[in-house]
Amino acid sequence: MTGRPRVLVLHGPNLDRLGKREPAVYGATTLAEIDASLVELGGELGVEVASFQSAHEGALIERIHRAEDEGAAGVVFNPGAYTHTSIALRDAIAACALPVIEVHLSNVAAREPFRHHSHIAPVAVGTIAGFGPESYRLGLRALVGYLARARRT
Ligand code: DQA
Repeated sequence: MTGRPRVLVLHGPNLDRLGKREPAVYGATTLAEIDASLVELGGELGVEVASFQSAHEGALIERIHRAEDEGAAGVVFNPGAYTHTSIALRDAIAACALPVIEVHLSNVAAREPFRHHSHIAPVAVGTIAGFGPESYRLGLRALVGYLARARRT
């Protein structure tokens, strides 16, 4: 592969409303600000970052398929509420060879019981939750570290 490894940042439903959505839970940072910060961090870490947001389960699934077909190196994924409901997204991740880091702005383990189970966690490399927008940045760093270790082995 030529050029910098490409990383996909995937955002699920309602995350396009960040900034005005339940700010007490999710903070004041917008999705555009998160994406811009990840592009910048990606530059520092030597990866190219593209992002995609959708409220539609099928669109997210198809974007994961496309990321694999286009030779992306890995995915940082906040599946939103689909975390707790979507076997189809879980299967899409299991079916692709891409490493996926699951991220959440809020600490889902400290919230309502229905947020405690993740269908995604068992097929992700790992999960980062509770650090607000920093969860995404930690997720990107974790993915880049994982990719570097995978290249060495
Ligand atoms: C979320 C947590 C989910 O439970 C919720 O449905 C979201 C956002 C988070 O980033 O904290 O939409 O994924």
